Amino acid sequence: MTDQHNDASVAAHGAWSGRFSEPVSDLVQRYTASISFDRRMAQVDIRGSLAHARMLAKQAIITPADLAAIEHGMKQISGEIERDEFQWNLADEDVHLNIERRLTALVGDAGKRLHTGRSRNDQVATDIRLWLREAMDDISGLLARYQHALLDLAEQHAATPLPGFTHLQVAQPVTLGHHLLAYVEMAGRDRERLADCRRRTNRLPLGAAALAGTSFPIDREFVASELGFAGVCENSLDAVSDRDFAIEFSAAAALIMMHISRFSEELILWMSPRFGFIDLADRFCTGSSIMPQKKNPDVPELARGKTGRVYGHLMGLLTLMKGQPLAYNKDNQEDKEPLFDTADTLSDTLRIFAELVPGITVRPAAMKEALGQGHATATDLADYLVKKGLPFRDAHEAVARAVRAAEKEGSELAELPLSALQAFSPLIAADVFCVLTVEGSLAARNHIGGTAPEQVRAAIARARARL
Ligand code: ARG
Repeated sequence: MTDQHNDASVAAHGAWSGRFSEPVSDLVQRYTASISFDRRMAQVDIRGSLAHARMLAKQAIITPADLAAIEHGMKQISGEIERDEFQWNLADEDVHLNIERRLTALVGDAGKRLHTGRSRNDQVATDIRLWLREAMDDISGLLARYQHALLDLAEQHAATPLPGFTHLQVAQPVTLGHHLLAYVEMAGRDRERLADCRRRTNRLPLGAAALAGTSFPIDREFVASELGFAGVCENSLDAVSDRDFAIEFSAAAALIMMHISRFSEELILWMSPRFGFIDLADRFCTGSSIMPQKKNPDVPELARGKTGRVYGHLMGLLTLMKGQPLAYNKDNQEDKEPLFDTADTLSDTLRIFAELVPGITVRPAAMKEALGQGHATATDLADYLVKKGLPFRDAHEAVARAVRAAEKEGSELAELPLSALQAFSPLIAADVFCVLTVEGSLAARNHIGGTAPEQVRAAIARARARL
C-alpha cells in the first residue's frame, strides 16, 4: 500500500481514516451521509456538546482550559451556523462530525478531546430528543392557538342552529358553537398526548456512549440537568437504539392530522354551494385556471391530503425499527426525515388553521334552512310523548308514522297542523309546537355536554379556563 493511497483514504474516511485502506466512492459517500438533513439539529448538537464538555471538566476528565477553548469555539460555530456562513462538508457525513471538525480547526486539541466518553450513537439520540422536545412544545402551543380561534368562533355562535348530522343525514339540531367545541376537545386530547410523549422523550441518552457505557467517571445526572432532562435513560443499550419516543410523537401527530382532516372535510362540504353554510376568506382559497367562477377550498383540501403523508411517516418509522437487533444500527439515521417532515407539516397546518378559523364567514340562514328539511325535531316529539306517559318505543313508532305522512304531503313534521299530528297520538296537544321548534329542541338539551346555548357558553368558559 502506497502512502498516496493512505492519504486518499484519510480524506474520504474522515474521523475513522486510520481503519480503512481505500476511499468510499462518491455514491457511497452520498448514500451514507445525513448532513443534508440532520444539520437542522446543529444548535441542539452544540448544546449537548457543551453540557458534555462541562461535565468532563467538572469530573477533571478534561482541563478547565480545554473547556474554555471548547466553549469559545462552539460560540463561534453557533454564530457561523446562524449567519449561514458555516461550511457544511459532505465528506464529514453528518452534523456531529461537521461541527467537531470545525471545532478542532478552531481550537486544536481541545476540540479533539470533546468526544471523550461519548459516541455519535448517544450524541444523536440526545440531539433528536432535544430537537423533538422543542418541536412538541411548539406544536402544543400552536394547538392552543387553534383552540382559541375555535373558541372565539364558538362564542359568536353559541346559539346559532346548525343541522347535526349522523350518516351525513340531518339528525337533530345542534348549535354551531357546540359543533366547534367538539374540535376543541379533540385538540385538548391531542395536547395531552404530546405532553405524555414529552415525558418519555425527556430523558438523557448521553453516557451510554456507543452502547455499553464508558470507562470514564462521568456524571450523567449533571448533564441531564444541564440540558433540562427530567432524568437519564436507565439502560445504555436502550438509550442509543430505541426510537419509540419518535414513533409515539408520529402517532400523536397522525391523530392531530386525522382531527384536522375531519374538520377540513366539513369545511369543504360546508363551503360547497350545496350546503352553503360557510365561506372561507379568499386568502385561503384559489381559483381555477379554466373555470372563472371557481373558488376552491385548497387549504382544507391540502390539509386533508397531507394527513396521508403524516400517516405514512408513522408507518415508515414503525417499519424502520421492527427488524433492528440491539443496539444502534445505521438504519436509525432514517428516522430524521420522517420526523422533521411530520413536525413541519403539523406546524404549518396548525399555524394556517389558527388563521383560517377566524376567516370563516358563517351563513346562519343556510344552516337554518337546512334544518327545515329532514324533520330534525322528530326525536323531540318522541320525547314529548314519553313525558306524557307513552313508552319510548311506542312514541318512536307514532312519530315515525307522522314523519311518513309529512313526507307524503311534501311537508315538514313541524309544519303539520295540530289536527294532523293528533291523528298519530291523542296525547299531542297545542303545547307540542314549542318542542317542535329548533330553538325549543336546542334549549331542551340543557345538561353538561349538551347543545343548549346556555351549556355551550358554560363549556366555552370551562375550556378557556383550562387553556
Ligand atoms: N448520522 C448518524 C445517525 O443519524 C449518527 C450516528 C452514527 N453512528 C454510527 N455508529 N455510525 O444516526
